Amino acid sequence: MQVNGTPYRCIWLEADQRSVGIIDQTKLPHSFETVTLRTLHDAIIAISDMLVRGAPLIGATAAYGVCLGLSGLSDKNTDTCLETICASLIAARPTAVNLRWAVERMRSLLINLPPEKRVQAAYQEAARICDEDVQINESIGEHGLQLIQERYAATGDTVHILTHCNAGWLATVDWGTALSPIFKAQQADIPVHVWVDETRPRNQGAHLTAWELASAGIAHHLIVDNSGGHLMQQGKVDLCIVGTDRTTCTGDVCNKIGTYLKALAAADNDIPFYVALPSSTIDWTLEDGAEIPIEERDQEEVLLVSGLSERDEMHQVQQVRIAPEQTRAANPAFDVTPARLVSGLITERGICAPNKESLLSLFPEHRE
Ligand code: MRU
Repeated sequence: MQVNGTPYRCIWLEADQRSVGIIDQTKLPHSFETVTLRTLHDAIIAISDMLVRGAPLIGATAAYGVCLGLSGLSDKNTDTCLETICASLIAARPTAVNLRWAVERMRSLLINLPPEKRVQAAYQEAARICDEDVQINESIGEHGLQLIQERYAATGDTVHILTHCNAGWLATVDWGTALSPIFKAQQADIPVHVWVDETRPRNQGAHLTAWELASAGIAHHLIVDNSGGHLMQQGKVDLCIVGTDRTTCTGDVCNKIGTYLKALAAADNDIPFYVALPSSTIDWTLEDGAEIPIEERDQEEVLLVSGLSERDEMHQVQQVRIAPEQTRAANPAFDVTPARLVSGLITERGICAPNKESLLSLFPEHRE
C-alpha cells in the first residue's frame, strides 16, 4: 500500500540485509514513523508492546525475530539456542495463532539444517512467509469482493460495511484481510462506505483503520463501539467483515474484544457477518473456541486514553486518565464468536461455511 505516494509493506529487510524495518503502529495516525529491529529482544518488544500487531503481521515479525535471534548468536548456534529463541517469541503474545504457526514453520525447517546454514535459510524463509502473506491477502480480497459485488448488483447502491478493530494492511504484510475486499471494491469502482468501530481500549479502528481508509480515499465514518447494533436496526449496515486472531477448525472465531457483540447484533438483524482470514490463522488443533487463550492486557490501556491535544499549542499526543485514581480495570483483549453466528469464512482458497467439513474441503491437506 502507499503512504504519501511511497509503496510500503509493514515489514521489510533493511539495506544491511540483516536488520528489519517496521512501521511503529503506536504512533499512528498522528505520525508515520519507522523503526529498525536489530535483535531478538527488539522483535519481542515490537510484538508485545504492539508496535506491530494484527495476527499475520505478528507472525511475520516473529519469523524475522528468529533470524535476528540466530544472527545475534556469537558462536554457539545449537539446537537448544534455536528452541530458546522460538519459545521466547511464542511467549510474546498468546492469542494470535499465526505467531506459533510462523515460529513453528521456521523451527521445523531450521532444526534439520546444520547450524552454519541456519542464518541464511532463516532469512530466506522469513522472506517467503512475507511474500506468501501478500499473495494470500490479495486472494482473500478477490474472494471477499464477490460478496460486495453481489450486494451492489442487488441494490445498485453504496454498500455499507461494518468492521471492527484493524484487519487492514497494517495488520498484515500488505493488503489486510477484512479490508482487502474493500480495497478491491474500490479498484472495481463499486461504491463502498465503511462503519469503523473505534475499538476500545486501544482504538485500532480510530487510529489505524480510519487512517488506512482516509489515506486510500475510501468513504467511512468512525463510530463508538456501542453504535453498531443501532445502525444495524436502522438498516444502515449491509455487511460485516472482521478479521480474526485464531479460528478453530470448527469455525469459532476469536477476534478483538467486542467482535462477539457485533456478531450477535448482526444475527438479530439478519445481516451477513463474514470473517476474513489466511489459513495460518486456523488452529487445526482446537475444536472449541472456549479453549483459545485470551490475552489479558495492562489495565492502563482502559484507564488511559491517548490522543492529539487540541489545547496546547504543541499539538502533542497526550494520555489522559478517564476514571477515578482508585478505579481498577479489567482488560481482556479478545473474545470468541461462536461459529453459529458467522455467515462464512473468507479464505485465500475461497469462502466456506464455518464448520470443520467445509474448512477441510478447502484445505484437504489437514485431513487426518
Ligand atoms: O490486538 P491486535 O491489534 O493485534 O488485534 C488485532 C485484531 O484483532 C485483528 O482483527 C486480527 O488480528 C486480524 S488481523 C488481519
